[in-house]
Order: sequence, then C-alpha cells, then structure tokens
Amino acid sequence: MSLLDAAREVRENAYAPYSKFKVGAAVRGASGTIYRGVNVENVAYPEGTCAEAGAIAAMVAAGETEITEVAVIADSPTPVPPCGGCRQKLAEFGRHDTPVTLATTEGDRLDTTVGDLLPGRFDMSHMDNT
Ligand code: THU
Repeated sequence: MSLLDAAREVRENAYAPYSKFKVGAAVRGASGTIYRGVNVENVAYPEGTCAEAGAIAAMVAAGETEITEVAVIADSPTPVPPCGGCRQKLAEFGRHDTPVTLATTEGDRLDTTVGDLLPGRFDMSHMDNT
C-alpha cells in the first residue's frame, strides 16, 4: 500500500466533531513500516492534536526515530498544508530532503520536502552556546 493510500484510509477514523475537518497522516519509518495518525479533537479545543502528531507518536512508540516519507490528506480545496507546529515535529525526525506528499481527497497533490516546509528551522545547533 502506498503511504498516501494509508493516510487516506486512516483519515476515516479521525475524531473531528468540532471542525468537521478530518485529516489523515502517514509516515514511513527507516524500517519501511508505515505509521498512521488522525486528528483527535477535544471539547477543550486547544487539547486537540493533529494527524501528523499522531503518526509521529505511533512511530516513536514503536521504537523508530527516523522518518523517510510523509503523506497528509484532507478534504480541502488545495493540498492540506501542515500547521507550523507539525512542520517542526516533522523536522525533528525527517531530513531536509525527506519527501512529503500533501493531498486532497479529490486527488490533487503537492509534492514537497520537510526542509521546504520549514526553512530556517530551530535545531540543535542553535543551542551550541549553552
Ligand atoms: N489539522 C491536522 O490534523 N493537520 C493539519 O495538517 C492541519 C490541521 C487538524 C487540526 C484540527 O483538528 C483540524 O484539522 C482543523 O484545524
């Protein structure tokens, strides 16, 4: 199964009763295994979590810390852009050139990379003076 198909499939399980905006994400770990995530909203709105965060948490829980590929899908007019926080989360485990596919349920897709999604990211090197 392709990573995008995995994201499309898991999206059905998103818990989004407040925004009604279901998002599915899938990341591939260095082992080749696919990890899936969905957005999980909460009546206390800020407690909700994004699909990308769920997929990353599943990967880390399985013992992996390297993302080789990402796919995110939603029923949006244009390929769904990850929020700023998720871009930083993806950058933690992906490389600059790690491929990211953003998609709509209608079939539009945008191929980009973790580095292009977050230019000038904060990383370990910025703490070198500590
Ligand atoms: N959302 C994600 O899960 N990932 C994204 O990349 C964009 C936004 C979720 C958060 C919230 O549950 C809903 O979409 C509306 O913002």
